[in-house]
Amino acid sequence: MSDFRVPENFLWGGAISANQAEGAYREGGRGISNIDLIPHGSSRMDVKLGKVSDPELQTDAFYPSHEAIDFYHHYKEDLALMGELGLKVFRTSISWSRLFPEGDEAFPNPEGIAFYKDLFKECRRYGMEPLVTLCHFDVPYGLIRKYGSWRSREVIGCFVRYAKTCFRELKGLVKYWLTFNEINIVLHSPFSGAGIAFAEGENRNQVIYQAAHHMLVASALVTKAAHETDPENKVGCMLAGGSFYPYSCNPEDVWESVKKEQENLFFIDVQVRGHYPSYAKKLFREKGICLNMEPEDSDILKNTVDFMSFSYYSSRCVAADMADKMSNEGNVVKSVKNPWLKTSQWGWAIDPLGLRITMNQLYDRYQKPLFIVENGLGARDVLTPEGTVEDDYRIDYLKKHIEAMKLAMEDGVELMGYIVWSCIDLVSASTGEMSKRYGFVYVDRDDEGKGSLKRQKKKSFYWYQDVIRSNGEYL
Ligand code: BG6
Repeated sequence: MSDFRVPENFLWGGAISANQAEGAYREGGRGISNIDLIPHGSSRMDVKLGKVSDPELQTDAFYPSHEAIDFYHHYKEDLALMGELGLKVFRTSISWSRLFPEGDEAFPNPEGIAFYKDLFKECRRYGMEPLVTLCHFDVPYGLIRKYGSWRSREVIGCFVRYAKTCFRELKGLVKYWLTFNEINIVLHSPFSGAGIAFAEGENRNQVIYQAAHHMLVASALVTKAAHETDPENKVGCMLAGGSFYPYSCNPEDVWESVKKEQENLFFIDVQVRGHYPSYAKKLFREKGICLNMEPEDSDILKNTVDFMSFSYYSSRCVAADMADKMSNEGNVVKSVKNPWLKTSQWGWAIDPLGLRITMNQLYDRYQKPLFIVENGLGARDVLTPEGTVEDDYRIDYLKKHIEAMKLAMEDGVELMGYIVWSCIDLVSASTGEMSKRYGFVYVDRDDEGKGSLKRQKKKSFYWYQDVIRSNGEYL
């Protein structure tokens, strides 16, 4: 029996994002964003992946983000529930277009500022430390229309102005920040990840990596600004995590996994180490990329993050020859089916040991404190006549992952906290469904946007409450 104990200051938490929860997409002076243009239904994927060069709002389509779970009007009630749950940290994002409706205004929208000030005050009232993502996938549509989003260097200045506004206005209320949510997702889902849509015949890789370069420069500049505004500020990068396993011990498969791992960690390498990795040149050559960099960029990139955060839902599995293997449907990141693992109802592999592996690998590579800012199970919940959900499957998933996390900490990994995605049901980022539920609190709303929006606690709510109370001893 080990005598390992989770440190007393460990940040147990729950997360949401503005674009999946707030709704009120045209209230309070908010401008529309890329996510508001992604419909539910058959055309969703094409828009998300940037295959629709100039997406526009269609009158006959349903857009889940427009109302989402209406957190904008329910935040007091929802934060009271999170306070009751006992969260030490509450993770959400700020909607960039709520502060800068078009993205490039000289001054922020005061209504937007007032909303977030109150939200974070409310968090503090319940003793919850906010962890704030500056950009959780959403880019103001104005910047997409005028500049093609992050393809243009112009957007760096807009983002820095937005971030500095947040640091200034929220000083004393927020001290933990993430610059971009899952920055590597821009490779797989460019429009939903970064507002990037392609014109016919464009070199996709050139566009994506150039845009990512601008995001990296912006991330470094705002990291510097955060530290200058308040030395208490701690800034992290954020990776869509999960190690890439080789399908077999055939060296060809192992080499494939090394390459995929490099591709996945490429941007984080820059944010943590302050420069492009040694394998960048070859990767650019192979993908036909020629980056435009300004002479000052290499100095700017030296402003590295304080900690490394990541989401973990599952490991990935790759083979040199993917074509003859069953693919893992339902995952944005292409991978093959791992025969050793069961999957969720949405085809995501369930691999708690993979969390321990991922944590060890990331810590070995970066030697910076890690922070698990998303982990959870999307499942079809059924509300009982008593008005709860008997979600033992979710408890089982979380319990096994927390056990694996504790083992990784015992292995020597420095971990700041563990945050469950999501603390309340919200719109799924990949599918736009409400029925892919992650929360401890059930929200009465369906995939077509119908429902009373009533909030009800699930069985897992009480379980996680005990986990937090016992600092991870009771599982
Ligand atoms: C992460 C995102 O990719 O995974 C979240 O940061 C997202 O925004 C979560 O919701 C779960 O994915 P999904 O597609 O099931 O909602």
